[in-house]
Amino acid sequence: MSPIPWWKNAIVYQIYPASFKDSNNDGVGDIPGIISELDYIQSLGVTTIWLCPMYDSPQHDMGYDISDYQAVYPPYGTMEDMQVLIDACHQRGLRIILDLVVNHTSDLHEWFKASRSSKTDPKRDWYIWRPAKYSDDGTRQPPNNWRSHFGGSAWEWDETTQEYYLHLFATQQPDLNWENSETRQAIYASAMEFWLQKGVDGFRVDTVNMYSKHPSYADAPILDPSSDTQVAHSLFCNGPRIHEYLREMNEILSKYDAMTVGECPNTHTIEGVLNYVSAAKKQLNMVFEFDVVELGVGTDYKYSTTPRDWALPQMKAVLKRSQALMNAGDGWTTVFMENHDQARSISRFGSDRSPELRETSGKMLAMLQCGLSGTQFIYQGQEIGMVNAPAQWPISEYKDVESTNYHEMIRQKTNGEPEALQKAMKALQHLARDHGRLPMQWSAQANAGFTAATAKPWMRPNDNYAEINVERQREDKSSVLSFWKRMLQLRKDHADLFIHGTFGLLTEQHEQLFAYTKTSHSSSAFVVLNFSEEEQKFERPAAMGGRDWELLVSNLDDVGGSKDVLRAFEGRIYLSNQLCN
Ligand code: GLC
Ligand code: CA
Repeated sequence: MSPIPWWKNAIVYQIYPASFKDSNNDGVGDIPGIISELDYIQSLGVTTIWLCPMYDSPQHDMGYDISDYQAVYPPYGTMEDMQVLIDACHQRGLRIILDLVVNHTSDLHEWFKASRSSKTDPKRDWYIWRPAKYSDDGTRQPPNNWRSHFGGSAWEWDETTQEYYLHLFATQQPDLNWENSETRQAIYASAMEFWLQKGVDGFRVDTVNMYSKHPSYADAPILDPSSDTQVAHSLFCNGPRIHEYLREMNEILSKYDAMTVGECPNTHTIEGVLNYVSAAKKQLNMVFEFDVVELGVGTDYKYSTTPRDWALPQMKAVLKRSQALMNAGDGWTTVFMENHDQARSISRFGSDRSPELRETSGKMLAMLQCGLSGTQFIYQGQEIGMVNAPAQWPISEYKDVESTNYHEMIRQKTNGEPEALQKAMKALQHLARDHGRLPMQWSAQANAGFTAATAKPWMRPNDNYAEINVERQREDKSSVLSFWKRMLQLRKDHADLFIHGTFGLLTEQHEQLFAYTKTSHSSSAFVVLNFSEEEQKFERPAAMGGRDWELLVSNLDDVGGSKDVLRAFEGRIYLSNQLCN
């Protein structure tokens, strides 16, 4: 048997540089800050760091708008700092992967500046330019009705050259033209090889299924008749040449034995995902499927929804499908519930109604995650049970372009109608990306120990930092932090079951209970989780050979008295050295 590749057993800790740790008290996290906390990161039991974009950027989308792949954003540090970080990780036996953002660049990237300078510039074709359309009365219109992810048309008119350019995200994020092979080679050299040569171990590949657009550039179907832009995912995700591009990219990555994990939204079938992650197809090692983190989001606009508009059977169904991927072929998957694009998982899937429920449900979600097969991802702050910003925070505390654009759109559309704005705020309080971007809560000191008490952090720290912080949880054996450490250790100790085992869903339709089994060639685990505040009875599946299950871990003390009844957000994992039926 061939050895298991390292990235399958990896436990990845995601760092958002602006919000992790500020070393020079300018209110913005930085690379020296990360270096200073490597002991902490390692103490969690993680094996790999994923660093969100730290490249030079005007920061319209927090560094996902890159103006130079080969330079570091000065407030985060220098190229030397990056080399120190890479080397320091390796010295400790940690691996480090970077974000690879190559669907688009910043409009301030030299490539785009050249491209927009004239229609005959050699780099004109490096981006996606199209002439205007004109309606019968002669009004200028974009080439089609595609809507950008951050609202409004995906096309921006350029006065100088009198054409539109495509931007699937913010106006300042023009899409690169992957059809042009010279562009692709420049991307590989500048964004990939430059960093691989510095020793990085791989990439998290941003929006990886959007490079190949449908060549027709046809209008998207009309979902919202009141709008001149429409959701157009089917026309720019999973396009006809995407797999050809990824194979080409893989030829370079494989020279360095680099790991890849791609973002794969709007792809909802096992076959669709396997097209990216089948080992034989030599494209990506694994992808992030979006189905869990998109539970409860609006279909037209992400924030056109109400809080908790999802049901537990839906979560089970999508996890079942992504677990099944590993048995359906030679593919591999990821396990995650948070990242910098998501609100906090306790606030969404558990409960932040009281400190007790918050801690119990945070631990229960850790049990869910650590029991599932695939490569594990944890987002900074998740390990201490950080939650969403308080409901009373006004829109001025929200900094994300996606949040502010949405709020502004509703304001304009409804002429500032208070009810509509309130509804928008409710959705943002629950789902905005901002919640994951609040400063890391290190201690009860002013500014959560993220930066000096006298500094002004770029985002306001959550009001609850005196209660939820690393320092307080570090020595406390019953803290969320200690529980995550324990769960990660158990995951490693029972890797055959938890990382590689076969998933079997029980309680498929139950609205409050989530139970599943994991089986390896010689043993079984039974995971049972209560997603409600009410007590839930459960049944253990029969273990073969008449042997009973042995309790491995629970998130509440004194389980003995409550046999086969789970209290609010209680979870248990049982083991058997027998196979279960
Ligand atoms: C990805 C990133 C997100 C960013 C977008 C555009 O989804 O995770 O933060 O806004 O791509 O680059
Ligand atoms: Ca700083």
